[in-house]
Amino acid sequence: MTDSTNLPRFNATQAGAAWKTTVEAEHEQSDRIREGAASDDFWRPIAHRFAPPKKGEAAPDDTFERLAGLVSSSGTVLDVGAGGGRLAIPLAEVCARVTAVEPSEGMREQLIATAAAWDVSNINLVAGTWEDAEVAPHDLVICAHVVYTVREIENFVRKLIAHARQTVALVVFQRPAMSSYLPLWPKVHGEERIPLPALPEIEQLLPQMGIEYRKIPLQERVSQPFKSRAQAVDECLARLFIAPGSDKSAKLSEVLDDCLLEVDGGYGFEWAEPRRPWIIAWDV
Ligand SMILES: C[S@@+](CC[C@H](N)C(=O)[O-])C[C@H]1O[C@@H](n2cnc3c(N)ncnc32)[C@H](O)[C@@H]1O
Repeated sequence: MTDSTNLPRFNATQAGAAWKTTVEAEHEQSDRIREGAASDDFWRPIAHRFAPPKKGEAAPDDTFERLAGLVSSSGTVLDVGAGGGRLAIPLAEVCARVTAVEPSEGMREQLIATAAAWDVSNINLVAGTWEDAEVAPHDLVICAHVVYTVREIENFVRKLIAHARQTVALVVFQRPAMSSYLPLWPKVHGEERIPLPALPEIEQLLPQMGIEYRKIPLQERVSQPFKSRAQAVDECLARLFIAPGSDKSAKLSEVLDDCLLEVDGGYGFEWAEPRRPWIIAWDV
């Protein structure tokens, strides 16, 4: 049987089922560890990390440049999980129109403010998840650093394909997203963090879905430094689901005293190392 994208339809691939098991175990761990109520917007405190640099300043890596090579100046781009517009905003400058789908209000506010600062007005912002979004097909569909936490990954990818007129491009890290925070887990929570799927799991999934893809390596980069110690504390509290003022927040503060180093532009973890993102692309 085939679907509208002419790809074979599987009930659930082995890789898709394994992906879902991992994501659910990671989410279960987050829910179990979380102090207080779940934040209504996990991304708000770190939305600034997902904005492009100031207009005219160099990007910290070549992701935008390589994606720009996949669309013509008269083409359209659909950016799924656009965050603060890190890619959507510069792409809007080099193509006809961008649609950005983004569920986090904090991220959308960041995107709107940055698009205004860049004087970019050809972005249509759609509030909501990709699973719920209703949008028209675009020439290039991009989805950068989003799939890691998606449970129903096969349906998610099939919907990307169904909305691409020419090309789908995922951007994924070689190693799990948020890997720089993993060493904090045993120190503060007393247990290892369950790592989310990353490139190796994508490379198991896509062939099982009948998708032939090409791999484009991107420049390795170290995460942007925390601008101040206070910012490091705030972001680590959010990422480790710790309530400010709790015993674990005091523990985190002690741990950060030992493992934060002064680096160019602020503070970084002593174990920080460059991470390699890849574009995984295929034509539909
Ligand atoms: C790590 S950020 C990446 C943002 C941006 N793509 C970038 O590369 O800078 C992940 C983004 O995916 C969004 N996201 C998470 N789950 C999503 C879903 N199911 N559908 C659409 N977006 C989602 C989050 O709200 C967040 O803005």
